[in-house]
Amino acid sequence: MKIGIISANTRLYSTRRLREACRKAGHDVRFLHPKKCAVRWTASGTSLAHGNLVIDGVEAVIPRIGSSLIHSGLVALRHFEYQGIPTANSAHSIALCRDKVACLQHLASHQIPIPPTVVVDAADQLEESVDQLGGFPLILKIAHGAQGIGVIKVGAMDQLRTTVETLWHLGEHLILQRFVEESEGRDLRLLVVGDRVIAAMERSSAEGDFRSNIHCGGTGRTFRPDEELTALAIEATRAVGLGVAGVDILMTRSGPAILEINSSPGLEGIESATGRNLARSIVRYTESLSAS
Ligand SMILES: Nc1ncnc2c1ncn2[C@@H]1O[C@H](COP(=O)(O)OP(=O)(O)O)[C@@H](O)[C@H]1O
Ligand SMILES: [Mg+2]
Repeated sequence: MKIGIISANTRLYSTRRLREACRKAGHDVRFLHPKKCAVRWTASGTSLAHGNLVIDGVEAVIPRIGSSLIHSGLVALRHFEYQGIPTANSAHSIALCRDKVACLQHLASHQIPIPPTVVVDAADQLEESVDQLGGFPLILKIAHGAQGIGVIKVGAMDQLRTTVETLWHLGEHLILQRFVEESEGRDLRLLVVGDRVIAAMERSSAEGDFRSNIHCGGTGRTFRPDEELTALAIEATRAVGLGVAGVDILMTRSGPAILEINSSPGLEGIESATGRNLARSIVRYTESLSAS
């Protein structure tokens, strides 16, 4: 098969692993850098060029669209969708999960548990929002953050006010969340592929940080989720419509709550924590899409 991988960085661990898994399974890989892709509508029809090359014959697509270049990446991905070519994740679901506000809103509307959260849009709502979340410390997040960036612990009203004003000034959309202290810097990452949880790890934050992201120095160890957690991750993934998803779960005093769902989950941390070849499972899932 000819598989297209949309990625801005072919040197990243996850991208390399996916290419390797494709090649081992006998597929041709065509890398598509979002910025090199040009979708054209002309008298001769619709086409996608990558640099000087017109892309043809791609039979399935694995999007690895990170937080940068999302718009260009989604344009390229939609090109394939409109051609009826199967993609491991849809542009619609990627866009939904890229925005933490939209994602949480969607999950809550499907009765999926999330931490107590408020959207902060106006300065005169701050005090009431803080009260509703039970007071400080609280977690402030930018809607478009990733890898722990834009996730801030706030301890007092003056700090909240100045931080919020600064971030608004920079054009960010914000949410405020109860600080789930009882999770003690740990969270769970479940990797869902198709309708199965194929791997899971428990991540612990580095000393002096509450964020457990591997990018923030967190460490992961393999974890066996029980039936409830497995069902929750699958249900949440289905609700947002992703085929491949990294589901972040926090254990709160009232049970598991979903923090966010990642549409391009990193493979390095979870493959090394579990010692498993997870890129292969993603490639197999992608193959199965064109068979069905
Ligand atoms: N409400 C919260 N209470 C406690 N820890 C949190 C909370 N929200 C996020 N965290 C910690 O910060 C990390 C990053 O948050 P997350 O919402 O997943 O954003 P990102 O997209 O940056 O990964 C989480 O993995 C978790 O360790
Ligand atoms: Mg996360």
